[in-house]
Amino acid sequence: MPESANARVNVVFVCLGNICRSPTAEGVFRAVVERHGLDRRIGIDSAGTGAYHVGEPADQRAQAAARRRGFDLSAIRARKATKGDFKRFDYVLAMDRQNHAALSRICPPGEEHRLSLFLDYAPQLGQRDVPDPYYGAGDGFELVLDLIEAASEGLLADIRENHF
Ligand code: 4NP
Repeated sequence: MPESANARVNVVFVCLGNICRSPTAEGVFRAVVERHGLDRRIGIDSAGTGAYHVGEPADQRAQAAARRRGFDLSAIRARKATKGDFKRFDYVLAMDRQNHAALSRICPPGEEHRLSLFLDYAPQLGQRDVPDPYYGAGDGFELVLDLIEAASEGLLADIRENHF
């Protein structure tokens, strides 16, 4: 049996504020993982590269949009990403290229393989960034959910292929 067969795989989603995109990804991916009965095998968290909203719950618009699709974000509180996240998490998933660049700057040498763009797990989307919905119209949150739901399936497939 490979050494990793019983290991827990840890995943963190990272956006700018940790109040819109990455908590949405945390809630959606948690539901997908639970649906597949893998919640004891996969740890899930989220963080922001900025500290503006540390300690706050997810944006009310993000929570409402998620709730309409059956995802509960109410327990999530914002925190800032740290270089220690590259030790704790096997997958450090940036929600866009701007946050990927910010994470690259705090990534310890030798840990770069942990960092990727979340939407690269859904190449069929033809889109690499989850657009920031914070300042936009309300339907930005629906697009965020659509993209995240698609990439969550691809991410789970990658974890199954490479770890279980
Ligand atoms: P998020 O959205 O990165 O998806 O959480 C944002 C939330 C807050 C801000 C920017 C983006 N802000 O500038 O305060």
